[in-house]
Amino acid sequence: MTELISIADCRQHVDQEVRMHVWLTDKRSSGKIVFLQLRDGTAFFQGVVRKNAVSDEVFEIAKSLHQEASFYIKGTVHQDERSHFRYEIQISDLKLITNNEGYPIGNKEHGIEFLLDHRHLWLRSKRPFAIMRIRNTIFKATVDFFENEGFVKFDAPIFMHSAPEGTTELFHTEYFGGDAYLSQSGQLYGEVGAEAFGKIFTFGPTFRAEESKTRRHLTEFWMMEPEMAWMHQDESLDLQERFLSYVTGQVLKHCQYELEILGRDSQKLEPAAQGNYTRLSYDDAVKILQDDGRDFKWGDDFGAPDEAFISEKFDRPFFIVNYPTTIKPFYMKKNPDNPKEYLCADVLAPEGYGEIMGGSERESDYETLLKQIHEAGLNENDYSWYLDLRRYGSVPHSGFGMGFERVIAWICKLDHVREAIPFPRMINRLEP
Ligand code: 4AD
Ligand code: MG
Repeated sequence: MTELISIADCRQHVDQEVRMHVWLTDKRSSGKIVFLQLRDGTAFFQGVVRKNAVSDEVFEIAKSLHQEASFYIKGTVHQDERSHFRYEIQISDLKLITNNEGYPIGNKEHGIEFLLDHRHLWLRSKRPFAIMRIRNTIFKATVDFFENEGFVKFDAPIFMHSAPEGTTELFHTEYFGGDAYLSQSGQLYGEVGAEAFGKIFTFGPTFRAEESKTRRHLTEFWMMEPEMAWMHQDESLDLQERFLSYVTGQVLKHCQYELEILGRDSQKLEPAAQGNYTRLSYDDAVKILQDDGRDFKWGDDFGAPDEAFISEKFDRPFFIVNYPTTIKPFYMKKNPDNPKEYLCADVLAPEGYGEIMGGSERESDYETLLKQIHEAGLNENDYSWYLDLRRYGSVPHSGFGMGFERVIAWICKLDHVREAIPFPRMINRLEP
């Protein structure tokens, strides 16, 4: 029987007869020939139906196809240097599965709200296709990287009783007559994993009840959080740099077709794959803003416009290290040389994207951590198991968190993180 292949595998089947399972994205016909634009989830390409190469019945079906019709085809793959995909298929047979009129998304410009309302269908279009494929490559690269570095994948819970990243951004839910919150970070559980397995990473959904309607905030996003026992902050920065270089390198290696669909200049990503990321101090970042005449005082947190301004100056990701303690969470370790700052760093992406990752060395001394819990206005009883990690076998340790959609938005050069996740959740969007 003729081999069943995916569109993406065409290059290994040039001039061969093959079978495929496809959907129609667009159609054009002129008398004796019908051009079908096809997709199968692996790529997009053109099928050609010639009147004299198929039965009358098949030619009539080809002419009658509506957008998103689904069908089986048989035909011969040819090289087609004019097309973006570089291959096409001369169809010899076609068997219809469904063919309904009225697909709401046409091959024309639609507004973003309309497209988001139809996200369940829009995901079939070229642009979301390319973004989701790149998302998948980044996911795989992340898992491969940490596995190669000897990390264990460790799963944190979603229902939480305590707040790692501040109490104002928690989604509350009732829990059998008591209270629970949706996880805003798996980190504290990641620290448990680090003391049990040495090096771990968590990867899962994260929830923030932030009332931010910005281009970089979702209420539900995915975070990847490595945690490393026996590791100080400097080594963690080295690891973060190796990690991001590897991920961008893998996208450049495997996703040229997708980057081309997005019109993303892949040369702009090459410096990121080369490493050598600048480590800028918080103090120097403040100077950059002040030298530009901005109203920014030492101790302020960077807003999105501040980060965008600084990040325009770099051609690859860079670190801002050692922020004031007043603007970062309670679990970080203070810099022994300057107790006004933590041993922490954010990673900012270039081209105006700003923060994509953040991390720190963790406070590993019991008494100091307890003091920092009190200073943050938190109840030590909520953190008793976390404090146990400092009672028994406490060691220096560090970790960080990657905002998955933020990294995708930068790599794909998206205007908004909502396009980086299959079903975005924002203040004003819970459907589809
Ligand atoms: O900076 P954040 O809040 O850090 C943490 O949660 C730490 N526990 C991480 C760690 O050290 N293990 O969040 C980490 C990253 C940010 O750098 C950002 O990329 C992303 O998560 N992020 C968001 N992404 C989309 N929408 C939001 N509302 C986000 N908030 C944070
Ligand atoms: Mg942060």
